[in-house]
Amino acid sequence: MVRTVEAVRAERAELPAPVGLVPTMGALHEGHLSLLRRARGECRSLIASLFVNPAQFGPGEDFASYPRDEERDARLFAETGVDLLFAPGIEEIYPPGHATTVTVGGAEERPEGLSRPGHFTGVATVVTALLSIVAPDRAYLGEKDAQQLAVVSRLVRDLALPVEVVACPTVRDPDGLALSSRNVYLSREERRQALSLSAGLRAAAAAFAAGVRDAGELRRIVSGCVSSQPLAVLDYVSLADGEMREEIEGEVQGEAVLSVAARVGGTRLIDNVRLRP
Ligand code: PAJ
Repeated sequence: MVRTVEAVRAERAELPAPVGLVPTMGALHEGHLSLLRRARGECRSLIASLFVNPAQFGPGEDFASYPRDEERDARLFAETGVDLLFAPGIEEIYPPGHATTVTVGGAEERPEGLSRPGHFTGVATVVTALLSIVAPDRAYLGEKDAQQLAVVSRLVRDLALPVEVVACPTVRDPDGLALSSRNVYLSREERRQALSLSAGLRAAAAAFAAGVRDAGELRRIVSGCVSSQPLAVLDYVSLADGEMREEIEGEVQGEAVLSVAARVGGTRLIDNVRLRP
């Protein structure tokens, strides 16, 4: 494990290409491991980063209580074949006087950005820094965080960063719940009601497969399912184009992303599914 920019650059320079990077905030679960295994299979060298990025948490959010277990994470990274783990101290990423941020136009106006002001600027800033520091050939990101994936893909294109973004499918528990580091916050009953997010998306995807194309109707299937759960408070249901730039009104024509966010008990959860005609 290395903690400084200087050390990770020196070690990275010795690794054979292609080099894959899996950025994480730790609290590893099977979702993270699926990214690591995919990268391990496709790259000669595998670098993971572990950094709970304060800039992407809002004032009322869970930065202080975010689950942290560096020892367990380090063991799992090693067992999954990570060649180099970068776990920087805060001043390595945000040196004294740090004053540069990366904002992807429009990201703060889309549903997840509206609900979490500043979040995507925090994500885009740290991912740009990590890509610059590690200089991987490929970066592996999960479709679970659909808007994050769209934001990172956009900034890589716009800044012409020499890295290929690889999108990896969402890993779920057998009952459908999308794996998340935040699932540990859920009580038994909350976890049961949290299934309404994936169940709603599944129902809407089935309706879509059966020919339903009306965006409002597809959104209502999801919102109806989540709202039927007393402990779930719906934040938004969004049906957007494949790059999540704009909300779809009327008929769905091409590829679309149906996404949902809700608070279940005190825990904010997100999930999404891609609809392909
Ligand atoms: P974190 O939440 O730790 O997630 C790290 C990566 O794992 C992200 O690309 C995320 O989309 C992916 N992931 C999480 N749950 C998943 C699941 N159930 N199935 C598949 N992939 C999943 O996302 C972040 O950290 C941060 O925002 C980060 C990109 C590291 C920047 O700080």
